[in-house]
Amino acid sequence: MCGIVGYIGREESAPFLLEGLEKLEYRGYDSAGVAVYGPDGLRVAKAKGRLKVLAEKIDGGRAIPGTVGIGHTRWATHGAPSDVNSHPQTSAGGKFAVVHNGIIENYLYLKNHLIRRGVEFVSETDTEVVAQLLEYYYDGNVMEAIRKVVEKVEGSYALGILCEDFPDRLFAVRKDSPLIVGLGRGENYIASDIPAILSKTRDICRLKDNEIAVLTRSNVGFFDIDGYFLEKPVEYIEWDVESAEKGGYEHFMMKEICEQPKAVHDTISPRIRDGRIVLDDIALTKEDLERFRKIFVVACGTAYYVGVVAKYAIESMVGIPVEADVASEFRYRSPVIGPDTLVLIISQSGETADTLAALREAKHAGCRVLSIVNVVGSSIANESDDVLYTWAGPEISVASTKAYSTQLALVYLLAIHFAELLGKKSPEECAALLAAVEKLPEQIESLLAHKENIQFFASRYFNAGDIYFIGRNIDYAASLEASLKLKEISYIHSEAYAAGELKHGPISLIEEGTLVVALATHTGLFDKMMSNIREVKARGAVVLGITTEDKLEALTAQADMVFPIPSTETCFLPSLSIIPMQLFAYYVASMKGCDIDKPRNLAKSVTVE
Ligand code: M6R
Repeated sequence: MCGIVGYIGREESAPFLLEGLEKLEYRGYDSAGVAVYGPDGLRVAKAKGRLKVLAEKIDGGRAIPGTVGIGHTRWATHGAPSDVNSHPQTSAGGKFAVVHNGIIENYLYLKNHLIRRGVEFVSETDTEVVAQLLEYYYDGNVMEAIRKVVEKVEGSYALGILCEDFPDRLFAVRKDSPLIVGLGRGENYIASDIPAILSKTRDICRLKDNEIAVLTRSNVGFFDIDGYFLEKPVEYIEWDVESAEKGGYEHFMMKEICEQPKAVHDTISPRIRDGRIVLDDIALTKEDLERFRKIFVVACGTAYYVGVVAKYAIESMVGIPVEADVASEFRYRSPVIGPDTLVLIISQSGETADTLAALREAKHAGCRVLSIVNVVGSSIANESDDVLYTWAGPEISVASTKAYSTQLALVYLLAIHFAELLGKKSPEECAALLAAVEKLPEQIESLLAHKENIQFFASRYFNAGDIYFIGRNIDYAASLEASLKLKEISYIHSEAYAAGELKHGPISLIEEGTLVVALATHTGLFDKMMSNIREVKARGAVVLGITTEDKLEALTAQADMVFPIPSTETCFLPSLSIIPMQLFAYYVASMKGCDIDKPRNLAKSVTVE
């Protein structure tokens, strides 16, 4: 997501902050800023756009002298990219400057609380709430103010803090968002990621949740939230810059696969309060929903395959007919749509040309357009009537993984929300569904803990010429994405088929040794899938089965290898079954020596038709 770097030493800080931020550019960002404490007090410079815009504004850092500073690259979550929404955010009285990674979930509540007490806000960010709260609680003791803020804010944060009254101090605190302290000679640093400070030091301490670091030029003190001093181990970093950028992973794709538990958690948890779904960000009412006779889900590629899951989830929970369509088809086929149609647009980048054109077609026809987008302020977000953001952070690998998982999570929340509004599910049923969604991050985590089983299977079959994926219902929906993942990064020919279609043609492709991946997680359709597996086995196929833990034994009797996933509500199973499939695609591509993060002929964002 965003990037943080901070410096306290004897050299000019701003040039180093720019250099450190440059090392974090790979993470993606839309604006940048620095705050420096110098002869003129605390000065802040911020600019929307690339880092070089900021660098030009401050003459490479020379325009804001000072030897203590914090810098930030922002990936917008609350409020569109703009100078004013960039970090550092400052408190109204100018006492505090703050850079922040993460999401303050209760920022609206806290903001309203402060506004009622006369505090004036200038940005739309959740981060400004932290700066304002610090000043609100400050009585000369920064540590105490930080402690009170930490008590009040909910969500995730890594914070770098400067206080005007302490020109020789740099403060840092974190919860659920990484922050490291770099140790130098006569200078010390903070950073969200190792590459930012690797040119200066390889000695680092990792802050843990609710730990506070107080940096001076010659020393770093670590404290727990009650102010007790902590001894922290110093770690020596051996990584080179390239592996540091990938957080030690070999590829961004694996890093992003492993980020999914957090990305899903960050996307859902701010939208669940007291056991209920709160979608503050959209204005759709019960009356609006009653008007819709049909929902179209329109998107491209992986986002379209989220749409296929959405069809099953929304139809089964809400009872409104849903059609999923690829945007390049939808835009040219005169779909029957109008004011009684809700069009759900899904896009990671928010800039995909066909998806944007489909959105405009829908608007032109008078449809209500709700979009699920990852990039704040993107064209699709700007042109939609309502937007739900996936808070996945920037996705760098071309192969979409965490975007898929977070889009699915929002689809589930929408389906439950619609079902509740329309009275299609009782409050108890909705609570049970919601509890299942909330459990997904830890279930994904548990699957990632067994990567090596999939790696082993991949090592035996990475030379396959063709691979077929079969499934029924939501397993068919997940098969489509599993097949796309494999083909786009490993260049192995692969197809996904609805298992019931096998005998209508595709089964003629099966011969001795053909690899078939059978997704059989849907309990109600398990026996049907077993029949399909028998059919392909009888023709010589090698079968990798994916099923829930309770069906492990039954499937093991038929398949050559089985990878179990935890049980969840039927509609949510794709969130779990896709994890071994992402890993399978990754390991196969890796064993074939493919360029995993930048597969041939593909671009991350397809902004032309
Ligand atoms: O940015 P979008 O979500 O609109 O992109 C849509 C597709 O281009 C994208 O999902 C593509 O299929 C993925 N790179 C596949 O992994």
